[in-house]
Amino acid sequence: MMSVSLIWGVVIAVCCCWWLLLGTRRRQMGEPPLENGLIPYLGCALQFGANPLEFLRANQRKHGHVFTCKLMGNYVHFITNPLLYHKVLYHGKYFDWKKFHFTASAKAFGHRRIDPSDGNTTDNISKTIIKTLQGDALNSLSEAMMENLQLVLRPQVVPKPKTPTWMSEGMYAFCYRVMFEAGYFTLFGKDLSGQDAQKALILNHLDHFKQFDKIFPALVAGFPIHVFKTGHYAREKLAEGLRLQKLRKRDHISELVRFLNDTLSTLDDTEKAKSFLAVLWASQANTIPATFWSLFQMIRNPEAMKAATEEVNKMLENAGQKISFEDNPIYLNRIQLDDMPVLDSIIKESLRLSSASLNIRTAKEDFTLHLQDSSYNIRKDDIIALYPQLMHLDPEIYPDPLTFKYDRYLDENGKTRSTFYSNGLKLKYYYMPFGSGATICPGRLFAVQEIKQFLILMLSYFELEFVESCVQCPPLDQSRAGLGVLPPLNDIEFRYKFKHL
Ligand code: HEM
Repeated sequence: MMSVSLIWGVVIAVCCCWWLLLGTRRRQMGEPPLENGLIPYLGCALQFGANPLEFLRANQRKHGHVFTCKLMGNYVHFITNPLLYHKVLYHGKYFDWKKFHFTASAKAFGHRRIDPSDGNTTDNISKTIIKTLQGDALNSLSEAMMENLQLVLRPQVVPKPKTPTWMSEGMYAFCYRVMFEAGYFTLFGKDLSGQDAQKALILNHLDHFKQFDKIFPALVAGFPIHVFKTGHYAREKLAEGLRLQKLRKRDHISELVRFLNDTLSTLDDTEKAKSFLAVLWASQANTIPATFWSLFQMIRNPEAMKAATEEVNKMLENAGQKISFEDNPIYLNRIQLDDMPVLDSIIKESLRLSSASLNIRTAKEDFTLHLQDSSYNIRKDDIIALYPQLMHLDPEIYPDPLTFKYDRYLDENGKTRSTFYSNGLKLKYYYMPFGSGATICPGRLFAVQEIKQFLILMLSYFELEFVESCVQCPPLDQSRAGLGVLPPLNDIEFRYKFKHL
């Protein structure tokens, strides 16, 4: 018995030595300082996952602005000084930004790899997405969203002036419902089978979306979807609703979906539906929490609320738009929406405080990363990462960084402010909730427009207040750090009623 235990002890000891000798990387000349972590394969993943911001700050204090961490078998080089971000992005020819994105997308949504270089798709998907979310296409998207938001928010029957009733609901649940419904109609059109059937269908999709989104971080981390029965079922149901035979029964489908359908012509119906699901997720997963934070911060700050209300009223008056339940819905065009710096600043400040995205590129080959006055050798297949939350919460760039200041992005003339400094030097990159460079979010212009439209309509049609008189800001749900805008950990009850118009 003793000798068997001894043999096992020796085997385990030999494996550990073997792993220490061969399984861990040794830092070579010219490479950034390295943190291998103590756990095989995972490396530092547990500490990073528990609190990325604190983990990166601790390593910054220990190693300086550039360091490497082993995370889930990958070696990730973090560049944490925002003054160096543009230098990193100059090295675009060495980066493969698609590899990580397409792999993560295939894992989460269950479609085949759609990277054109794999031969499954014939055209450049990214170009199609940009073309159908920006430029002229943005006008029709924006117009459709404004109409759909009002379809969801305006009462079916004109409310009687003497019986205004308060409705109360969790603010996050409210934003989720309204943005999901209006956003789904805007991209995938409206069902032709009548209003009641349409309502039931969209609530069903909403339910499935929530279930699927809950397991999304685990899927990106590499867990197989079969482990999550409910989430798996929800994903399949959502994709089923996006099959061509279902889409054919819908009206006013966006150019994005129509053009993507053509671009993905080599995929079969099931694969296409899963790719459309990826678009649905991208269009909703960040926009919903971003909408919540913008509304929450605006209502919580009386100065913000006052400035926003004044800007909205002035814009509607100048545009000749009357707020009424009987007349036509409100309409503001793209130029008018773009000319609302107060709402812009409220949205930016809300995203500065709540977004935690990880900007990732993979090294196509061994190369040297030249930064300000230092250079680092990077190995092929390593990952270069920026974590903009470090910059968004840096007190030198944003004094009193945890406080919401609605006018942080306004200059002394009330116009958009775009100069921010670090170490006395003007920053090229100071605000990055939408990523940067080649991987910057193609839907960012639409996202800001739809959140603005939502705020305009909430201020125009409703009286709004919190149920509790002294509301605390809910903590951010850190379990989604790295994926974008973090939702609140708990919901906040609020009340709303239609205005006397
Ligand atoms: C506040 C809302 C939003 C935020 C904060 C956001 C943020 C981001 C971020 C950080 C990325 C990844 C960038 C990178 O990897 O460096 C991304 C990618 C993407 N976003 Fe957004 N996004 C938002 C809304 C939208 C909307 C409304 C749409 C579409 C209607 C959209 C479509 C996409 C697509 C298609 C990608 C993938 C691009 C690619 O890999 O080629 N996003 N977004």
